[in-house]
Amino acid sequence: MVGKICGTGSYVPPRVLNNDDLSKIVDTNDEWIRERTGIGKRHVAEAETTSWMAGQAALRAVEQSGIDPAEIDMILVATSSSETVFPCAACEVQKMIGAAGAAGYDLNAACTGFVLAFNAAQAYISAGFCRTVMVIGADSMSNMIDWTDRSTCILFGDGAGAVILRAEEGTPVYMAAHSDGEKAPSLTGLSRHRRGWVEELEEGAEKKSFIHMDGQGVFKFAVRKVPEVIEEVLEEAGSSLEDIDYFILHQANRRIIEAVAKRLKTDVSKFPMNLEEYANTSAATVPILIDEMNRKGMLTEGQKIMLAGFGAGLTWAATLFEW
Ligand code: UT7
Repeated sequence: MVGKICGTGSYVPPRVLNNDDLSKIVDTNDEWIRERTGIGKRHVAEAETTSWMAGQAALRAVEQSGIDPAEIDMILVATSSSETVFPCAACEVQKMIGAAGAAGYDLNAACTGFVLAFNAAQAYISAGFCRTVMVIGADSMSNMIDWTDRSTCILFGDGAGAVILRAEEGTPVYMAAHSDGEKAPSLTGLSRHRRGWVEELEEGAEKKSFIHMDGQGVFKFAVRKVPEVIEEVLEEAGSSLEDIDYFILHQANRRIIEAVAKRLKTDVSKFPMNLEEYANTSAATVPILIDEMNRKGMLTEGQKIMLAGFGAGLTWAATLFEW
């Protein structure tokens, strides 16, 4: 058995901050942000919490799929920015959608989280442990951002995306995942609690950034490791790059996606992007893009789709499945 997508949904907050809005807060400008990242705007939560946005995306996926929420037996939420450490966001989603029979938990691998959650769901299904799994990526990076740090605040946005997987006979799903804890300092985000502790230690220090990032280091890592993990999955599947209809990559930077396409000698038109509108919503980028493509009618039965994520950890992963 494999998990086939039978419904998708997404939610982004209505409040929009475009690049000109940010140029009033920090020393930046629309031209720099567009040229270096491809980002034009980001949606930012006001009253919305991470788990509430996850629930909204899930409700939309349920509505589209037509399934009874009672059929869902597992809810996985990939997030690194839930408003509570516990209870987990998955339990809030369960309540919101009325999936009384579901187990659920959150998992955190930052921007790679959704791809890993998707892989976990596929493993549960192929092992016969679950039949219907809700997989969500949701993040409110605006809560972690230091809005005075121009090197990071321009990059992120908030949102959530969800897919429902249902067990069916079908072409196997192939996946690969990696971590490199040695590279952890390249990209770190501190929780509120930890932040206070660090500020105490750094008493008097000006530094207020809660996200620390070696931008160029992460850029190079992504451009090297994403093509590698895609090739790894293709080799395992006995498929080639030409067989793939779409490469749905984590939406961090247009230049990263273009460089990956170039390394793979594949036309960039096979790499859909929506970061101009939403920026980097961390674990939510991939499922928001899947939902947009699905609702536009771009995804049809039998297409081969490659997902790939990368981010803090450092972590990176890819999955090949048939729509
Ligand atoms: O989900 C994974 C999350 N992270 C990523 O994917 C990040 C990967 N890295 C990147 O996307 C890029 O490295 C950035 C977009 C973060 C930065 O682009 P870059 O081309 O690597 O620029 P840079 O850091 O080398 O900075 C170039 C210049 C610097 O000025 P000087 O030293 O050349 O005078 C920066 O101070 O641009 C300056 N700068 C800015 N200027 C205007 C940095 N941030 C800004 C800004 N506006 N927001």
